[in-house]
Amino acid sequence: MQAYPQRYTVTAALPYANGPVHIGHLAGVYLPADIYVRYLRAAGRDVKFICGSDEHGVPITIRAQKEGVTPQQVVDKYHAIIRDSFVDFGVSFDIYSRTSSQTHSEVASGFFKKLYEEDKFIEQTSQQYYDEKAEQFLADRYIVGTCPNCGNENAYGDQCEKCGSSLSPTELINPRSMLSGNQPVLRETKHWYLPLDQYEPWLREWIVEGHKADWKANVYGQCKSWIDQGLQPRAVTRDLDWGVPVPVAGAEGKVLYVWFDAPIGYISATKDLLPDTWETYWKDSGTKLVHFIGKDNIVFHCIIFPAMLKAHGDYILPDNVPANEFLNLEGDKISTSRNWAVWLHEYLQDFPGKADVLRYVLCANAPETKDNDFTWKDFQARNNNELVANLGNFVNRAVVLTHKFFAGKVPAINGELQTIDLEALAQLAEFPQRIGELIDNYRFRDALNELMNLTRVGNKYLAETEPWKLIKTDEARTGTVLHVALQIAASLVTLMEPFLPASAATLGDMLRLEKGSWQAAGRPDALATGHEIGAAALLFEKIEDTTVEAQVQKLLDTKKANELANAVAAPAKEDVSFDDFGRMDLRVGTVVAAEKVAKTKKLLKLTVDTGLDQRTIVSGIAEHFIPEALVGQQVLVLLNLAPREIKGIESQGMLLLAENADGSLQLMQPGQHVQPGSHVA
Ligand code: MF3
Ligand code: ZN
Repeated sequence: MQAYPQRYTVTAALPYANGPVHIGHLAGVYLPADIYVRYLRAAGRDVKFICGSDEHGVPITIRAQKEGVTPQQVVDKYHAIIRDSFVDFGVSFDIYSRTSSQTHSEVASGFFKKLYEEDKFIEQTSQQYYDEKAEQFLADRYIVGTCPNCGNENAYGDQCEKCGSSLSPTELINPRSMLSGNQPVLRETKHWYLPLDQYEPWLREWIVEGHKADWKANVYGQCKSWIDQGLQPRAVTRDLDWGVPVPVAGAEGKVLYVWFDAPIGYISATKDLLPDTWETYWKDSGTKLVHFIGKDNIVFHCIIFPAMLKAHGDYILPDNVPANEFLNLEGDKISTSRNWAVWLHEYLQDFPGKADVLRYVLCANAPETKDNDFTWKDFQARNNNELVANLGNFVNRAVVLTHKFFAGKVPAINGELQTIDLEALAQLAEFPQRIGELIDNYRFRDALNELMNLTRVGNKYLAETEPWKLIKTDEARTGTVLHVALQIAASLVTLMEPFLPASAATLGDMLRLEKGSWQAAGRPDALATGHEIGAAALLFEKIEDTTVEAQVQKLLDTKKANELANAVAAPAKEDVSFDDFGRMDLRVGTVVAAEKVAKTKKLLKLTVDTGLDQRTIVSGIAEHFIPEALVGQQVLVLLNLAPREIKGIESQGMLLLAENADGSLQLMQPGQHVQPGSHVA
């Protein structure tokens, strides 16, 4: 028997309250964490599941400024949206708190103060950019300038988004303040640093030697390379007016760095949940601490936060940090700023009641060891082929046939069980432990696959015993078969629950069965003979092509909008002389007739009143305009373009059009009606 820890503290990364959450968040962090916790609860372990909104930091102040509201208004709005999304997707936190709370401010201040009083920080002054007009120091993100590497004129003080290089503000050429637009000046300022270099030997021993075997390869690898590169002291305070004030004299206008206060948010949330006993979940060595995060958070959870906890001295350290890689969407990196995402709250508007389907697909395809791709086609295929055709089909057959042949009462086992029955039950008995071990080891995809294997066992059993035919010849034996099938279905109520909680509850209603303990699942006697089951309900339903096509179209629209927004104008052509330009005869004309040129796709034949004459112009715009709609429109015409024959028609001039980045065309027209024949110059 494996010895389990006395209790668990499970945290999921506090999402920034500056936008809603999307499928990448769910797949990478919240879903695996929730599966883990739901399983632990079913297995009877003592566990607290902790999360909340990360409400400090510069992205929030920038967003507030853009929207013309206060930072508090920004976090209030998104905290509510995020919290509701988690509820809707069944993410079962014991508490969802927030870092703008009073408790958090006290806990984070207290933490800093203890380290400060015990001389665990170093104080250092340095030169930082200051905006004299706005009268404040500028966070890296508040400074823009020219990237020294690629020349992008809108690089940020910490990063150039064009070439991807990471920068420091003083590297920018021509720095400008985003607050005032002015050139910032360097000014001296004092900050407190956590001397990570002093923790290096300890971190090496704890992680590089201590966790080589049990941490995921991606996590271990990142930590080792950070430690091997050598750790530097890191500032834990900032000159900013949004955050937890630095609680020492002489630190006016300074706040704790968001990455210092946010992980302490796990502790303050636990204190909100358990005002009297929170300390056992953070300080007792019988507690196993597990952080679920995305890969961009590894250094903070594996190096910086543990160093803070170590410096404090009273706290336990994380036992594991099962970070995931990233989920892409239809081949592209998910991006909030490009709106390239499936937002959880929007998904539920389009797929009401189908939170479990997304949970299923995201777990089956979770980016556990490498980046993975979400596609709507795969979403549809997994729903139709796996949830509907496999899991749903098995449950449905067992329940419907029981109603049909046995008036909805669990039939008795009649006579001896046959080999096929015993084999099915023997297989059933093995699943709880097999699935549980995989979950204990953070292998959620494999665990889900095993769950589906159990439903395959059930389907195979029914396919081979054929109770729908058997009933004609042997009612007693049919009863035995359905009795066995129903026991398998009954175990699903518990075994499905971590992955598909809403569907597990529906199945429970169908069988009139409460979910039981993990250990009891897999037994052959969950449903007693004679127990009356409830009505059959559909657990899952087929998703049609048109439904997913609409989602793909939505993404294509986003892509197009982004391309238009980011289109760069073509470079300028070579100079022409004034005389050359003067030789061109540009006029305003009116279209008096328009028709398609037969046997062509692109050509229109237009008759244009130029004020001098009515002439024919052939133009390649048939795919963009309906001929009738052009009649009566004023247009700009290059009159003296040498005539040329196109498809047997002489074209005497050229229509001027503007071409959008996406290739769409627009007529060039005078803003108001002009006499045909008027010169354009
Ligand atoms: N807000 C951070 C992010 O979304 C995560 C913070 S995790 C915490 O990347 F530990 F700092 F809370
Ligand atoms: Zn650059």
